[in-house]
Amino acid sequence: MEGTNLNQIGVSFKGSGSYVPNQILTNQDISKRVDTSDEWIKSRTGISERRISGIEEDVSQMGYKAALAAINMTKWDINTIDLIILATSTPHDLFGSAPSIQERLGAKNAVAFDLTAACSGFLFAVITASQFLKTGSYKRAIVIGSDQISSYIDWNDRRSCILFGDGAGAIAIEATLKYDNLIGFDMRTDGQRGCFLNLPSQINEDVITENINYSSSSFSSIQMNGQEVYKFAVKEVPLIIENLFKKTNYSSEKIDWLLLHQANQRILDSVGDRLNFSRGKILSNLSDYGNTSAATIPLVLDEAVRNKKIKQNDIIATSGFGAGLSWGAALFRWG
Ligand code: ACO
Repeated sequence: MEGTNLNQIGVSFKGSGSYVPNQILTNQDISKRVDTSDEWIKSRTGISERRISGIEEDVSQMGYKAALAAINMTKWDINTIDLIILATSTPHDLFGSAPSIQERLGAKNAVAFDLTAACSGFLFAVITASQFLKTGSYKRAIVIGSDQISSYIDWNDRRSCILFGDGAGAIAIEATLKYDNLIGFDMRTDGQRGCFLNLPSQINEDVITENINYSSSSFSSIQMNGQEVYKFAVKEVPLIIENLFKKTNYSSEKIDWLLLHQANQRILDSVGDRLNFSRGKILSNLSDYGNTSAATIPLVLDEAVRNKKIKQNDIIATSGFGAGLSWGAALFRWG
């Protein structure tokens, strides 16, 4: 079965790829640095270990490997790619990291740019790319989520350092006249609650000349009110998915997989329970990778596609949520 027949342009999801660094940081390793334990971390978050990129890796290198794997799944000619969007909050170049992925891929006909929306970034980027495809501006897009959060963690703060890891994931999306596999979506932000989770720049006042002052800046580490972020996620994520179900005439029984941003297993279970999803339908790889920010959704997706859990035409409800605060949901058919 394919999606709704159309007189207009729709999108289809053609391939996925992912990459994680080799270095494994276990809960036991973290407990050598801060006052915590494997038992505490596992029971409160579901995380056992996470990957940490070494100094030889960055967001572009990881993103390139994930994108290449997705392109290889499609068998596309690299010159036919029109658009590359990199969702990241940890660029290795503040002017943008996506063009260096374009260069590595040799995708000389594509335009490439970054999009920042923390853990909602990948979902927002998929929706953005789909708009370019649906208007007929572009035909083929690669959307990447890649983050090197380890560079911005206070490794002495046990409340946040246990949660995060590094990695990248990507998908290939194509315009089609036959059907639309992006069934529906919604995106939200609430800057008022942004103070619960941010990565602020540190401003140092300095002078250029006697009369002209300026602020030189660098970034500090992740600042997080874990309880408030938790409450936000378990309230807003079920609501936005329920509203999407209403708008699209879907319900949890018609959905094959619930694919949530991987922040905490307790959040995944709570959202799944609220929406009446059996545990077997909730995709999770938190135990192995923790929260890799913009990379989590394509990382779980790719894993499930490659081990044949997700099959062609399976319907997936997904939601990204995090700093901003930002959150969003989409309903899509794989393939
Ligand atoms: N090891 C041992 N004890 C700890 C640890 C730790 N690593 N961290 C906190 N504690 C202690 C606290 O100090 C506190 O002790 P106290 O009662 O003596 O003061 C106690 O454990 C309970 O602390 P809480 O903060 O209430 O613990 P909670 O059950 O809420 O779990 C957690 C904390 C895991 C951070 C949870 O709140 C959470 O997952 N929140 C969501 C965070 C999140 O997902 N952030 C990323 C969003 S995505 C993005 O955009 C980047």
